[in-house]
Amino acid sequence: MEVIEVDVHFELADNVLTAEDFIRLKTAAGFMERPVEQVEKALGNGLLNVSALCDGKVVGMGRLVGDGAMYWYLQEIIVLPEYQGKGIGKSIVNRLLEHIEGCLLPGTGAEIGLTAVKGKEPFYERFGFETIRTGMKKWIEKS
Ligand SMILES: CC(C)(COP(=O)(O)OP(=O)(O)OC[C@H]1O[C@@H](n2cnc3c(N)ncnc32)[C@H](O)[C@@H]1OP(=O)(O)O)[C@@H](O)C(=O)NCCC(=O)NCCS
Repeated sequence: MEVIEVDVHFELADNVLTAEDFIRLKTAAGFMERPVEQVEKALGNGLLNVSALCDGKVVGMGRLVGDGAMYWYLQEIIVLPEYQGKGIGKSIVNRLLEHIEGCLLPGTGAEIGLTAVKGKEPFYERFGFETIRTGMKKWIEKS
């Protein structure tokens, strides 16, 4: 793939992500495409989504899901390939972590989880995440 070098000026915006942009970024990163209706519901039920905008176009995103108090999960941290390596992913994760800290009740702690794509662990280690070997998951479907 040809990587286009761009001089990146980006801004972050909270809760403006559309289902169409979500699907565009997710498929650009090689992840499974989801139906628009399901994505709209997911975004609506999420705790926070952050978009990175370049000239008004969404080029990166990240989401927080969880109970908003004790357990938080980072989801879909994705930057379009041609915009990677410019500090956008780091800014998105920092914004999400900042939001969690802002929501913490005084005197409490919270657990922040994520499932890293193989090979991306070092990106998250920079924020203090550690790999745990006890995670489990299950996929379900309805026909
Ligand atoms: C992972 C991803 C979000 C990183 O976003 P990015 O905008 O390219 O990252 P940044 O430019 O903000 O990089 C921040 C720092 O992490 C480092 N970094 C980025 N990707 C890394 C990786 N895979 N391994 C180790 N370090 C990494 C950068 O070198 C940079 O270091 P610095 O602060 O010392 O300069 C991006 O590569 C991406 O979207 N990948 C495809 C989708 C994906 O796999 N998402 C993760 C799902 S778990």
